[in-house]
Amino acid sequence: MKDVTESTPFLVIGNWKMNGTRAQLCEFAHSSAPQDPEGCKRVLCLPSVLLPHGVSTFSQTSIEFGGQNCHESASGAFTGEISASMLADAGAKWVILGYSERREGFGETDALVRSKAVTALSVGLIPIICIGESLEDRDAGRHLGVILAQLEASTPLAEPGWLLAIAYEPIWAIGSGISASEDQVLEAHEAIANWLRENRQPAPVLYGGSVKPETAAGLASLDHVDGFLIGGASLNPLSFDSIADLSAAALSSLRG
Ligand code: PGA
Repeated sequence: MKDVTESTPFLVIGNWKMNGTRAQLCEFAHSSAPQDPEGCKRVLCLPSVLLPHGVSTFSQTSIEFGGQNCHESASGAFTGEISASMLADAGAKWVILGYSERREGFGETDALVRSKAVTALSVGLIPIICIGESLEDRDAGRHLGVILAQLEASTPLAEPGWLLAIAYEPIWAIGSGISASEDQVLEAHEAIANWLRENRQPAPVLYGGSVKPETAAGLASLDHVDGFLIGGASLNPLSFDSIADLSAAALSSLRG
């Protein structure tokens, strides 16, 4: 049975990837609800050039903002890169790290993700550390081993005051239109939550991979699912808000 007594909000985090313009952000602001539904926190992780515009456009709302990557060094001669403190300076509170598209397309290793997370934490950002298995790993039955190895090697050891989140994103479910089944999500989240507890590393565990309004309530009700990381459906304010509303309603009905 899901523990719904905790006071931490259910996280509904959008990942716009390399999409969006200032005009699209304005339209989003006009169509989305200014306040989060009770028990939920909405966050938009935007391309970094859109962050200052997002922060000012949504200043009267409860939506928070995040980046999608940062460099592991504090500053320096790294042409084309963005530092964690630049994201924080632009108004971000969160940063996605180790997303599978960066691990696969840009050769990011667990060690690099961990060092980016330490840098992000040092400037007060909340890293969302992404892990997840390929279809090949799952078909071979080694998915839990793969995710736990990524978790252990990518997550910095907890220090007092540090806040971070873990996102379980099975690569085969991302952008496929079909999310992992509730049983598959439950199995992975239970393993991740157990590892976090054994290692005294408290962190919410998000699910990502084709989350849509149709699947939100069922997935949000699962044990150890503390939020969502949403790609495609986060570009549309109506589907993003409806995922937040349906999750909030599902959790409130569990509370009774
Ligand atoms: P998707 O992407 O929701 O489009 O599958 C997942 C994500 O960006 O986390």
